Amino acid sequence: MKGIIIYKSNYGSTEQYARWIQEETGFDCVELKKAKARDLGSSDRIVLGCPIYAGNPLMAKWINRQWPLLREKKVILFTTSGAPAGDPALARGYEKALGPEIRDAIGYFPLGGRMVFAELKPLMRFIMNMAKKAIKDPAEREAMTADFDRMDRSSLKPLLASLT
Ligand SMILES: Cc1cc2nc3c(=O)[nH]c(=O)nc-3n(C[C@H](O)[C@H](O)[C@H](O)COP(=O)(O)O)c2cc1C
Repeated sequence: MKGIIIYKSNYGSTEQYARWIQEETGFDCVELKKAKARDLGSSDRIVLGCPIYAGNPLMAKWINRQWPLLREKKVILFTTSGAPAGDPALARGYEKALGPEIRDAIGYFPLGGRMVFAELKPLMRFIMNMAKKAIKDPAEREAMTADFDRMDRSSLKPLLASLT
């Protein structure tokens, strides 16, 4: 069985999970920008990884567009986020981004990500500081721009098991 990991990552946490999956599976691992249609065509298992930004999985548009090709394959999606796996906001964003046919067909694994606020691009920091002002709850407001590191290689176990 040939497999490929295709990821999109702005600050490296999604890429780190993609590399860990590559180490465990031996699948090829490519950034979305460099992925070719033939990479999809020649793989039976496709692992997709992207962060959640503003509630939305960053690769959702691409998945919807590529679905006619992807539907023939075993597809796994993992996302990285600040919100923990069981957070209802993650489920809401996922349901909004991908229709029922896609959700029924793919395996979805939300994973803890990482954010170092000082490393964000200035525009991102600006947007987050603006968005922060609209949040009423003080703890929630501070959490928005606080650093976190929820990277955990062992959280990949269920995803890896689903590939066998
Ligand atoms: C501008 C911005 C918006 C974000 N929005 C969300 C969000 O809506 N929900 C969430 O759980 N995490 C959110 N995050 C956290 C990212 O999903 C998390 O940092 C992820 O690990 C980043 O992945 P990357 O390192 O591969 O770029 C946001 C981060 C940034 C910088």
